[in-house]
Amino acid sequence: MSNQLDGKVALVTGGGRGIGRAIARCLAAHGAAVLVNDLGSAVDGAGADPSAADSTAAEIEQAGGRALADYSDVRDFAACEAMVDRAVAELGSLDILVNNAGILRDHMIFNVPQEEFDSVVAVHLKGTFNCTRHAAGRMRRQRSGRIVNITSTSGLYGNSGQASYAAAKDGVVGLTRVVSRELGKYSITVNAVAPAAVTRMAEEYAAGDAAPRQPPGVIGSPAGALSSFDADDVAPFVTYLATDAASGINGQTFAVWGGVVSLLNDPAPARTLTKPTRWRAEEIAALFPSTFALDLINPAPPRES
Ligand SMILES: NC(=O)c1ccc[n+]([C@@H]2O[C@H](COP(=O)([O-])OP(=O)(O)OC[C@H]3O[C@@H](n4cnc5c(N)ncnc54)[C@H](O)[C@@H]3O)[C@@H](O)[C@H]2O)c1
Repeated sequence: MSNQLDGKVALVTGGGRGIGRAIARCLAAHGAAVLVNDLGSAVDGAGADPSAADSTAAEIEQAGGRALADYSDVRDFAACEAMVDRAVAELGSLDILVNNAGILRDHMIFNVPQEEFDSVVAVHLKGTFNCTRHAAGRMRRQRSGRIVNITSTSGLYGNSGQASYAAAKDGVVGLTRVVSRELGKYSITVNAVAPAAVTRMAEEYAAGDAAPRQPPGVIGSPAGALSSFDADDVAPFVTYLATDAASGINGQTFAVWGGVVSLLNDPAPARTLTKPTRWRAEEIAALFPSTFALDLINPAPPRES
């Protein structure tokens, strides 16, 4: 492997399994020392198991890399500060942060327990905030850094049953956009990656019967050319974002799976109506059907009963 990340120190949350494990191993294979964080919870966030972080750290060490295991809970603000301090104290720096830890608890909105919404937001959105908040201070002082936030097409495109998860993951994209603007001037980049891979969280991709949605404007072979989506397919792009070569890429969101890497556009007005005074509801009602509504698609029209 190349040594593009020699001398760099990375913190990967949720690095014990799945996509985080693949990213941690790939960063290490390119020369980074890695603090492998993982609480070791079940998919739904219950429980804790140090063997998750331990096993990835051991794999990296066995492959000749440098890694330490960390069992902190990313929901805990103080624990995330201690994790950043630990990376600096024990590995010498903090150059790369990958906010990847995640859980999944799906219900239709009319059945979502309040506690379920809170727990999903706490891991994905608050966890990303917690680590970014503390890493940002360190990276700002050193005038360099790379932050990659793992998001999901679930919120970007909408996926029934995932209101909590989508809200948290789109929150991560909003956080990414703002923090990239705040930290860019200190030579820190902050980008988001929406992956898809067969993991215990997304077993449906294993059967090849559920393909991630193919964004428009694909360059290269269609996603369907790969029969399954491996976590190791996602890791090289995240690794690239972590290198010095990616210094000009900031505030972007990418979708990555199989052999596909897509740059997703920032939301932009598709159509605009303007007038120099305030619109009245009646005027909008008169204009809307012959303008905006011409090719609007209702993602869930009422069922005929
Ligand atoms: N697999 C996919 O297709 C897919 C699609 C879109 C987004 N994602 C996102 O990718 C990321 C990784 O998911 P995965 O598929 O590898 O799942 P996974 O369950 O294999 O790995 C997630 C890891 O996060 C850890 N974790 C959970 N809560 C934690 C906490 N509070 N603190 C620290 N660690 C914690 C878990 O112990 C687990 O090892 C998640 O953010 C997920 O939402 C995955």
